[in-house]
Amino acid sequence: MKPTQALERQHACDRQGSRAPIGRPLKASPHKSAALLLAWACLQFGAGPGLAGEIEVLHWWTSGGEARAAQALKASMQAKGHSWKDFAVAGSGGDSAITVLKSRVVSGNAPAAAQIKGPSLQAWANEGVLASINDVAKAERWDELLPKVVSEQMKYRGDYIAVPVNVHRVNWLWVNPVVFARTGAKVPSNWDEFFAAAETLKKAGVIALAHGGQSWQDLTLFETVALGVGGPEFYQQALVQRDLEALSGPTMEKVLSTYKRIKPYTDKNAPGRDWNLATAMVIRGEAGMQLMGDWAKGEFLAAGSLPGKGFICAPAPSTSKAFIFVIDSFAMFKLKTAANTAAQKDLASAVMSPEFQEVFNLNKGSIPVRMGMKMDKFDDCAKASAQEFTAAAKSASLLPSVANGMAVTSPIEWALKDAVSQFWNSDKMSSAEAIKRIVAAAKSR
Ligand code: BGC
Repeated sequence: MKPTQALERQHACDRQGSRAPIGRPLKASPHKSAALLLAWACLQFGAGPGLAGEIEVLHWWTSGGEARAAQALKASMQAKGHSWKDFAVAGSGGDSAITVLKSRVVSGNAPAAAQIKGPSLQAWANEGVLASINDVAKAERWDELLPKVVSEQMKYRGDYIAVPVNVHRVNWLWVNPVVFARTGAKVPSNWDEFFAAAETLKKAGVIALAHGGQSWQDLTLFETVALGVGGPEFYQQALVQRDLEALSGPTMEKVLSTYKRIKPYTDKNAPGRDWNLATAMVIRGEAGMQLMGDWAKGEFLAAGSLPGKGFICAPAPSTSKAFIFVIDSFAMFKLKTAANTAAQKDLASAVMSPEFQEVFNLNKGSIPVRMGMKMDKFDDCAKASAQEFTAAAKSASLLPSVANGMAVTSPIEWALKDAVSQFWNSDKMSSAEAIKRIVAAAKSR
């Protein structure tokens, strides 16, 4: 580390440390301001001299809850003396970010790390642009700290090329309990009850379901319906294995008709709306429910809404015994300088640390991916998620999200998003026509 950088780090930590509240444990609050986070990070990560570099991280965590979580990462890197270059690209569940990343990599100007997940990790590694972080992983025994299904996805030809951050559950229903109490709607546990609650809310003049009409959200809703209506085995066969019979059989027809039955309970301004703006409608009581992954919880928390009071989390209808997962991870790119490579390894190490796993996931709405973490600071939604994750893994009900990059390659995912979205948005398309398009998308390369 250059002496000036070491001094800067010292000063940043001194300044922040002196602002830290005395006598109150920093880890007590999950909702930290930027200054508190840096003070926290100085305590956790401030020690240890090293080579200071620049760390540029591409991500799409720009909503209220996501930004707080990303701040934890920035603070931990700054506490280690590295300079942080934020490369945040807002929007569309990461679709825009990946487009920008491709052009940066093609022009030989890759960031240190990028939010890439699922099968795309292998596709990027195949291009020869990712770096091994095996030395960090070996020294810190990641193989023992991660579920095998996760560690395998983070490796390419036996080498770790990515670090996992969290586990999100997709199949959640978010409810505004004040609106429900006022209108007499009951929190649904199956699809019949869902439509009964939606009808009650609609009659009371409330938007029943807050939806963002973007293709990744249309597909996120679709996979949740597919799981609820068809069950885990159907989900696995139709959406993950893309089995022709399952994709075109009577269960698929039922899934499509249930999916389309939801549409009248959304509002006319849904097209194009970002997911977090849909969550805000539930927070404000303009809408009664949202079906969305638990990154939505980060929005409730960031807005000061408390679990059980401002919002209720319930498994999406008919999916209480299954778990659609998303595991966010950072892929590491080959870099040109030793200082930046050292910073990249520090990033990998920080992400896997118990301290980071806790503070990040408290803010993000997800649960730690590192095994053996204490959950006492987490709320009941996260505790339920952690229990279900373990239970679902044992009963073959742990399923990768198709809409959020975990199950299929990205060309297939894009094709599925298009097909499902066209069906959602059309007044005329029959189920038979939708099936034809979904099958074609599922079989695309
Ligand atoms: C990601 C989450 C993110 C959400 C909304 C998901 O695909 O896994 O980390 O918060 O999209 O952008």
